[in-house]
Formats: sequence, C-alpha cells, structure tokens
Amino acid sequence: MEMLDRRSKVVFVCFVVLSLLFNFSLEQQQQLLNSGVERLALLQLRSSLGLTAKQWPIKADPCSVWAGIQCQNGSVIGINISGFKRTRIGSKNPQFSVDALQNFTLLASFNASNFALPGTIPQWFGTGLASLQVLDLRSCSISGSIPFSFGNLSSLTGLYLSGNNLTGIVPSTLGQLLSLEVLDLSGNNLTGTVPVTFVGLRNLTLLDMSSNFLTGGIPPGIGSLARLKLLNFSGNSLSSSIPAQLGDISSLVDLDLGSNSLSGPVPPDLRGLRNLQKLDIGRNLLSGSLPANLFPPLNQLQLLVLSHNTFTGGLPDVLWSMPQLQLLDASGNNFTGALPSLSSNANGTAAMLNLSQNLFYGSLGSVIRRFSFTDLSGNYFQGRVPDYARSNVSFVGNCLQNVLNQRSSRECASFYAERGLTFDNFGVPNATQPSSQPRKKSHRTIIILAAVLGGVGLVVLLVIMLILLIVCTRRRSATNQRGTGVGPVPAGASPSPPRMGLNFSSLGDAFTYQQILHATGEFGDENLIKHGHSGDLFRGILEGGIHVVIKRIDLHSAIKEACMSELDFFSKVFHPRLVSLLGHCLENENEKFLVYKFMPNGDLSSSLFRKTNSDNDGLQSLDWITRLKIAIGAAEGLSYLHHECSPPFVHRDVQASSILLDDKFEVRLGSLSEVCAQEGDNHQHRISRLLRLPQTSEQGSSGSPNTTCAYDVYCFGKVLLELVTGKLGISASSDAALKDWLEQTLPYISIYEKDLVTSIVDPSLIIDEDLLEEVWAMAVVAKSCLNPKPARRPLMRYILKALENPLKVVREEYTSSARLRTTSSRSSWNAALFGSWRNSSLDVTAIPAAPVNKVEGGSSFKQSATTGSQGSGQNGEGMHSSSIRRQSREIVPEPINVQDVERPIEV
Ligand SMILES: *[C@@H]1O[C@H](CO)[C@@H](O)[C@H](O)[C@H]1NC(C)=O
Ligand SMILES: *[C@@H]1O[C@H](CO)[C@@H](O)[C@H](O)[C@H]1NC(C)=O
Ligand SMILES: *[C@@H]1O[C@H](CO)[C@@H](O)[C@H](O)[C@H]1NC(C)=O
Ligand SMILES: *[C@@H]1O[C@H](CO)[C@@H](O)[C@H](O)[C@H]1NC(C)=O
Ligand SMILES: *[C@@H]1O[C@H](CO)[C@@H](O)[C@H](O)[C@H]1NC(C)=O
Ligand SMILES: *[C@@H]1O[C@H](CO)[C@@H](O)[C@H](O)[C@H]1NC(C)=O
Ligand SMILES: *[C@@H]1O[C@H](CO)[C@@H](O)[C@H](O)[C@H]1NC(C)=O
Ligand SMILES: *[C@@H]1O[C@H](CO)[C@@H](O)[C@H](O)[C@H]1NC(C)=O
Repeated sequence: MEMLDRRSKVVFVCFVVLSLLFNFSLEQQQQLLNSGVERLALLQLRSSLGLTAKQWPIKADPCSVWAGIQCQNGSVIGINISGFKRTRIGSKNPQFSVDALQNFTLLASFNASNFALPGTIPQWFGTGLASLQVLDLRSCSISGSIPFSFGNLSSLTGLYLSGNNLTGIVPSTLGQLLSLEVLDLSGNNLTGTVPVTFVGLRNLTLLDMSSNFLTGGIPPGIGSLARLKLLNFSGNSLSSSIPAQLGDISSLVDLDLGSNSLSGPVPPDLRGLRNLQKLDIGRNLLSGSLPANLFPPLNQLQLLVLSHNTFTGGLPDVLWSMPQLQLLDASGNNFTGALPSLSSNANGTAAMLNLSQNLFYGSLGSVIRRFSFTDLSGNYFQGRVPDYARSNVSFVGNCLQNVLNQRSSRECASFYAERGLTFDNFGVPNATQPSSQPRKKSHRTIIILAAVLGGVGLVVLLVIMLILLIVCTRRRSATNQRGTGVGPVPAGASPSPPRMGLNFSSLGDAFTYQQILHATGEFGDENLIKHGHSGDLFRGILEGGIHVVIKRIDLHSAIKEACMSELDFFSKVFHPRLVSLLGHCLENENEKFLVYKFMPNGDLSSSLFRKTNSDNDGLQSLDWITRLKIAIGAAEGLSYLHHECSPPFVHRDVQASSILLDDKFEVRLGSLSEVCAQEGDNHQHRISRLLRLPQTSEQGSSGSPNTTCAYDVYCFGKVLLELVTGKLGISASSDAALKDWLEQTLPYISIYEKDLVTSIVDPSLIIDEDLLEEVWAMAVVAKSCLNPKPARRPLMRYILKALENPLKVVREEYTSSARLRTTSSRSSWNAALFGSWRNSSLDVTAIPAAPVNKVEGGSSFKQSATTGSQGSGQNGEGMHSSSIRRQSREIVPEPINVQDVERPIEV
C-alpha cells in the first residue's frame, strides 16, 4: 500500500512540473505584450474607437486574448477591427480618431474595413506609420481627400480605400509606392486624372479606380505594368482612346473600361492579352469595326461586353466558338451581318447572348443554340424561329415570321433592299411584297402583263363559274330529296380556306400565338409527341395548368385542306366520343394550331400493353373489361359519325392510334383530319374532281373504297381483332403481311366453335369461361366487319349493339342456328349483323338511314360501358328486355331474303 502511495505521488509531481513547463512554453510562443507604450496606445485606441470589452477585454493580455491583434516579439504588428461593433456610447459619436496608431512602431497592417470612421484621413498617416504594409479602409465612410503624405508609406503593398466618400484628386505621390501590389480606390468621388506616375508601380497586380469621376485619358504607360491581372477604370469619365500599349499586359485577366467616354477604334494590339477572361469596353463612344484578328488568342475569354458603342461591321466568327464564353453582350451598336451556322460547340449551358439593338439580319443562326439566354430584339433577323430557340429568347422588333411585335414589312423590306439582300417578306410570296424600288423600266411591262393575265384570268373564272352552275343545278335536281345541300363542305372542294363559313363559337377558345408558344415551350423537342400526317403534335400546358395537345399545321408543307376540313368538321359536330377541341389559333397566315384536350392514357396502340412499374420485365396488358369498354366507346363514336350526322361522315383513319383514352379509359376518337362526308352523299366532290382541284392524298377517284362507311367498318374490324389477339399494329397496317395474317387467323373464328378462338386470343388476357364467350363474340363481330365485300359488312350501329350485348351475339346466333337454323334471330339487331353477312343482296345503302339530324350527342353517350350486359345507350333501349326487343325490331331491318339464312355461315 505504501509503495503504491509513494509511486503515485511521484507521478503527480512529475505531471505538475510537466504541465507548468508546457504552459510556460505556450506563453513564450504567444508573446505577451511587453511594451508599456503599446499597451497604453491600445487602450487609447480602445476608448477612442469605442470598442467593446467582449472583443478587447481590458484585463487580458492584448497579444494573446484581444481579437484582431497580431504581435511579434511582444510588439503589435497588426490591428484588425474589420466589422467590429462599437459600444453604445462609442457609436453615438463615431470619429476617425486613431492617433494612438503612431505609437506602434512596428505596425505592418491596419484593417478597419466596414468599421465606420467618419472623417478625413489624418495627414500623419504617411509619416507616422512608416512600417505599414497593408492599409485597408474599405467602406469606412471616410470623406475628404487622400493625403499626399501617403507617398511616404514606402513599405505599402496593399492600399484599399474603396467604397468611401473620398474626394479630390488622386495624389500623384502614390506613384512612389514601388512595392504596391494592390491599389483599390474604386467607389469614391475622386476627380482629376489617373496620375502618370502610376507607370512606376511595377509590382501592381490590381489597379481598380472604377466608379469615380476621373477624367482625361488612360496613361499609355499603364501598359508597362507587366504584372497587372485586373485593370478597372469603368464608371469614370475617361476620354481618349484605348491605348494600344494595354495589349502589352499579357498577364491581364480582367480588363474593364466600361462606362466611360472612350472613343476611337479598338486597337488590334489588344490581341496581346492572351490570358484575358473578361473584357468590358461597353458603354463608351468606341467606333469602327472589330479587328478580325482581335480574338483568336483570347480563347480564355468568358465575358465580352461591347454594348452601347457605335461599332459597325460584323462580329468575328471566332467568337462563336470560344470555348469558355459565358456572356457576350454586343447590344446597342451598329453591328451587322448574318450569324454563322456553326453547329459544333453547341454546348455551354449557362451562357448569355445579347445582340439586341443592332443591324443583324438573315436567318437565326444555329449559334444561338449554345446560349441559354438570348436577346435578339431590335435587329432585322428574318425567317422562321427554329424549334430549338427556347423560351429564354427575346425576338421583339425583328423581321421574323410568326412572331409578335415585329418591324413593319416596309421597314424590313427597305433595310434588306438597301443592302441588296433578299427579304422573305414574312414568308408571304413575292407578289404581295410592297414594291420597294423596282426599276422604272420594268414597271410598264409589269402593268401590261398584269392586264393581260387579268383578262385571261377573268375569262377562265367565268368559264369555271359556268361549269359550276351547270353541275350544281344538275346534281341538286338529282339529289333533291336527300337534302344534302346543308351538309358540311368537304375539304377538297374549297381551294381557299372557308374561314368565313366557320362557326367559331363551337371551335373553342381563340388562343394567341404567344399563348401557344408559351404552352408548348416554343415547340421544344421535349414536348413533341409525334409528327402526325396532318401536322406535328405537341404536348402543352395552358395558363392555369390545363394539359393540352397542340397540333401545328404548317400550311406551307401540309395539306391546307386537312386543317380546314378538321375545323369545319368541329364546327359542325360535337360528341363526347370525339376528341374535344379546346381551341384554335388561326392568327398566323401560314401556321394554324388546334388545341385539344390532353388524353392521359394516350391512344390504344400505346396503352394496350404498357411497361409495368415494378421491376418485372413483363408488360402489363389491358384487361378484358377495359378492352370491351374501349371497343364499345369507339363504336359509339363511329356510329355517331355514320348514322347521326347528315351526310354521314367517314372517319377514314380508324386504327388503334386514333382511339384516344382519357384517365378512365373512356374513348375519344381522334385523328379527325381525314374525316370526310361519305362519297356519293355529296356532289361537291365531283365538282372538285371535275375542276381538278387538289384533293387530299388518300382521296381516290370515284367509288374509292375508303370514302365509304364500310371502309371504316373494315378498319374497325381490325381494331377489334387487335383487342382480341393482342397483336399490335394490325389496325395500322394494310400490307400483304397483314393479309396473310388475316387469312391464317380468321379460320379460328367460328360462330359454331367457341374453343377454336382460344388459339388466337391474346395469351396475356386472363379470362374465365364467361369472359371467353365475350371474347369469342368480339372475334365474331370482327370477322363480320372484315368481310371482303364492303356491302356485306354490318352497319356501325349494329356493331355497337353487338358489342354492348356480346353474349347475345354468340348465344342467340349459336342456339338459333344450331337448333333449327330458323329465322328466330332475324328479329333482332343480331339478325341485321349476321343478315348482312349472309345476305348477298343486302346492300348497305338499301337500309333506310335512321333519322339524321345534327345531334349534340350527349343523349346517346354512355359514360361507363364496362360490362357487356349493360344496356345500349342508343335511343335508350335496353336489349335485355324482351318487351323492348319488339321495339328494336321496328328499328332494325330484317334480312330481306329469309331462305338465305339457311345457308351455312362461312365462319
Ligand atoms: C525578436 O527579438 C529578438 C531579440 O529581442 C531578436 O533577436 C529577434 O530577431 C526578433 N525576432 C524578430 C522576428 O524580429
Ligand atoms: C504616442 O505617440 C505620440 C505621437 O508620436 C506621442 O506624442 C506620445 O507621447 C506617444 N505616447 C507614448 C506613451 O509614448
Ligand atoms: C457619402 O456621403 C454622403 C453624404 O455626403 C452620404 O449620403 C453617403 O452615404 C456617403 N457614402 C458613403 C459610401 O459613405
Ligand atoms: C516586387 O516584387 C518582387 C517579387 O515579388 C520583389 O522581389 C521586389 O522586391 C518587389 N519590388 C519592390 C520595389 O518592392
Ligand atoms: C459623391 O458622389 C455621390 C454621387 O454623385 C453623391 O451622392 C455624394 O454626395 C458625393 N459625396 C461627396 C462627399 O461629395
Ligand atoms: C447606327 O448608324 C446610324 C446611321 O447609319 C446612326 O444614325 C445610328 O445612330 C447608329 N446607331 C448606333 C447605336 O451607333
Ligand atoms: C463541348 O463539346 C465538346 C465537343 O462537342 C466536348 O469535347 C466538350 O467536352 C464539351 N464541353 C462541355 C462543357 O460540355
Ligand atoms: C422573290 O423574288 C426574288 C427575285 O424575283 C427571288 O430571288 C426570291 O427567291 C423570291 N422570294 C420568294 C420568297 O419567293
């Protein structure tokens, strides 16, 4: 026990001795202030500036404890009171009272930036602080002038006086501070000239005299300050020209001469600034054109400001490919020329380009691709705005097509004419171009020519009108009782857009081009859905967050009729099974826009199978209930077009991609640009053929199979088959491969043999016995639609009923034919469906059309037709009730030839 005690005592003593030694050596390093004079001076300073006890605690040692005091060998060498707070009393009457500084004989730096020292810099600063190396008095509210005595601070390397209220001239004695590396006098009210003595400051790396009231010129000798990295004279009133000698400062990184009154041209010698990253010579009176070889060495350039001078000529091409360029501001000059079309170097994401208020012309070069913010306003650019020109581009005041707030045609034309350039006149053909200054000689010939052509034209016009009159009257007498005169005018018949005839109230809102641009992000590629055959489709969001699809129809390239016939169509029909037109924008001459409601589930071709969100590689396919619902919905839409419009409309583009689906998989038929009145129901097609007026591409000659409702039925059959078999793309194709496929597939569809169908049913469908009957029924309906003879295909309204009652299709037909092959089934729509199938003499046109009025459609629309057993929407009759079936017998015609029913069905 004793041994242990003693040993611990020894350890304790050793520990105490060691720790004392350690403490001592620490204090040796920290060097307590050993000069009484300096201690007194610090206390004086403390009270004259009103510093707080928190920062400078009065009883502690200044060197080791006070904030901002730097000592060496027990003497104060640095005082930093930057940003300190004064005591309440001290801040009442702040003064520039730092007299005590004179008692620190070794003081090398004094930093009082952001500490209010209202008053003037005392004259003794220059004489009393001989060892001072850094004086930082930025933003100290100092007024008065800079003492001449500063010239004696021969050790000074950094003099920071910016952000004060210094007045008077810049003392030329500062030129004696040969060690000076940083001289910052910016943001004062200094006047006079830049002292020529500054040329002696050979060690200067930063010279900032910006934002003063300096006048005179830039001393050329500045060019000999070979270590300068930053030279900033901006925001003064310097006149003279830019000294060529500045080009000698090869170390210069940042040259800012902006906002002065510098004049003359840019000296080519500036190309010597091979390390330059920022050059601002904007807002001066500089003129001339930029030396073409000014920039090649400047491949470090990040910022180039040339704005608001009177530069002429072009921008050197090399500018566009400068790898580091982040900002190019050439606005407000008389720069001219066309922008080059450099497609490479198209990166640089944070870049800004301002070419506004110049005389640039020509089409928008692809160079603007690399800039994220671009201001091209106030130039003479012409042509179209490319899609990649994103939303952060200002185009105001140019000569561009389809853009708001452009210059007048006259202004643009005369600009282009003055320069001997070709102006596209906003894309309007030459004929209407205001004849700016055609040669007088050709004037007369033009007049004569016009007169002759006019005369010929008049004769031709008269002949055409005569023919029209004859044809019309003849047709009218032939089809009088059908009353087709009120039908919509088909596209091909009207060579000029029938705009006046359109009922705009049913075409939704009229959007401005600006709104369309905004909604689609200026037709950004990311918003492009697809290139449709009648125009490009873009995704868009209107103000208020409404998602829309916008179709852009370029009337230059696209079939003009497509747009107009679609508008015409929409002005005449409305049905909840047709895609809804929210609005239009027709204000541009050559580009029209139709705005549709956005369909969250896309179209059938894209949503029949969709990738599952889970990581299973599998595709999720639509379930049978949804497929049936879609089939019924599409049939409702087509039935409306075929049977409720007068004259009947043929959709002509029935395929999976035309069947649009909303969020609840309710069908909206789209792709309506091909819609036309059924051939034979409208005589105007004949006129257009007679006059050889342009027709839509697919529109064939007389009797063309795809302008009849039966054509739609055939296409719909393919859609149904696609739903049954899950084989994508059937409905979109019509080639030989499809024919082969149909030949192989159709034999598996038999009204007598349910199980056969299982070999063609989409394997991804999960169906029980009951559902299989519905699938079977749809397949049977599909097959009847695909009858090679158009006249034998069922009418759309019977197809609709069959789809609404699929079990009846197979059960009734099956039982009736299996049992007796009697005529029992002929009493229903079912009979019509199969009757038309069997009965060779039954012609589509032989069936009297149902009463045809323009129906607003709402009444015949069934919001949710998810199950096959649901009642038919049409006219409100339900087919599951036998009492109502009697009613339907009155509507649905029976097959004419009863014997034919006995004939085996070719299923
Ligand atoms: C510190 O003072 C000692 C003598 O007092 C001197 O020898 C030494 O050079 C001084 N050190 C510095 C860095 O001035
Ligand atoms: C501090 O410096 C001033 C001016 O040089 C001088 O008058 C004064 O005596 C000095 N104070 C001390 C304590 O040496
Ligand atoms: C300069 O002085 C004026 C009044 O003379 C004052 O309003 C202004 O705030 C001062 N500016 C600075 C930076 O101290
Ligand atoms: C200038 O800087 C160099 C190197 O930094 C130095 O050797 C030289 O003494 C400086 N000149 C003056 C006059 O201080
Ligand atoms: C310095 O100039 C500014 C701006 O012209 C002015 O508001 C301010 O009063 C001036 N200060 C002095 C001290 O002249
Ligand atoms: C551009 O040049 C025209 C004369 O051609 C002149 O009137 C105009 O002031 C110049 N604009 C600029 C910004 O230099
Ligand atoms: C810019 O594009 C070039 C080639 O196209 C490529 O080498 C370079 O890395 C790109 N720079 C950036 C910042 O993406
Ligand atoms: C206008 O006419 C000129 C000459 O007649 C021709 O070179 C130019 O291509 C025409 N421009 C348009 C847009 O038709």
